[in-house]
Amino acid sequence: MKVFAHRGASGLYPENTRSAILAALELGVDGIEIDLQSTLDGFAVIHDTWLDRTTNGRGKVNKLTLAEVQQYDAGNGQTVPSIEEVFQWVNNQTLLNLELKHTFALDKLVKLIEQQVQAGLLTRENLLISSFDHHQLKWLKQQLPWVKIGALTGSIPLGYCEFAERLNAYSVHVDKNFINCEYVADAKTRNLKVFAYTVDKQEDIDDMLALGIDGIFTNYPSKAQSFLLQK
Ligand code: G3P
Ligand code: MG
Repeated sequence: MKVFAHRGASGLYPENTRSAILAALELGVDGIEIDLQSTLDGFAVIHDTWLDRTTNGRGKVNKLTLAEVQQYDAGNGQTVPSIEEVFQWVNNQTLLNLELKHTFALDKLVKLIEQQVQAGLLTRENLLISSFDHHQLKWLKQQLPWVKIGALTGSIPLGYCEFAERLNAYSVHVDKNFINCEYVADAKTRNLKVFAYTVDKQEDIDDMLALGIDGIFTNYPSKAQSFLLQK
């Protein structure tokens, strides 16, 4: 079962920051998940629509420029990263899962990704884009047919994974509290990978192993790796 660092190794380092991302890389995780919000002029790697919880700033991210967002402390003297910085740090060493939050100007994101790929800073195989907004995913897949799409849900849809197959998704990302055998079986018949979030406790990791899913998002990748090694 694959281990993805959720917001980087965010259990031990400030979430979605350089230190959390570098710590995850150091552990040799199978992937790193980060969250993306739009700013006035681009994108910022931050989970919330507001600066307040994870930085010493106040205000809405989409009402500020990236430079304004980066004036604030996102933990231990670090700035909120830009997406380009993250591509540079990760440097194709592992899969990067960009989760689109309140992200608009997707055409800008497509251009940025294409530039990174052309410049050799990002390998296509190492990118997975996910979102709870399936309309955005559909549009992205039309623009970048090669891109791996991760369809996020916080629940089990009536048609199980039918929506994800329609999106031509690579994976379904589902809340660990809702996942069940029927859902996993349905995903397998549609050739979709199943990843669950956010799985930190050993009992929960055991449950995910029993379900036979493909991977977990965890805030404590080091603990998850050690636990899985003992299995
Ligand atoms: O991408 C999985 C998970 O991160 C989705 O929820 O709120 O932690 O971004 P959230
Ligand atoms: Mg996320």
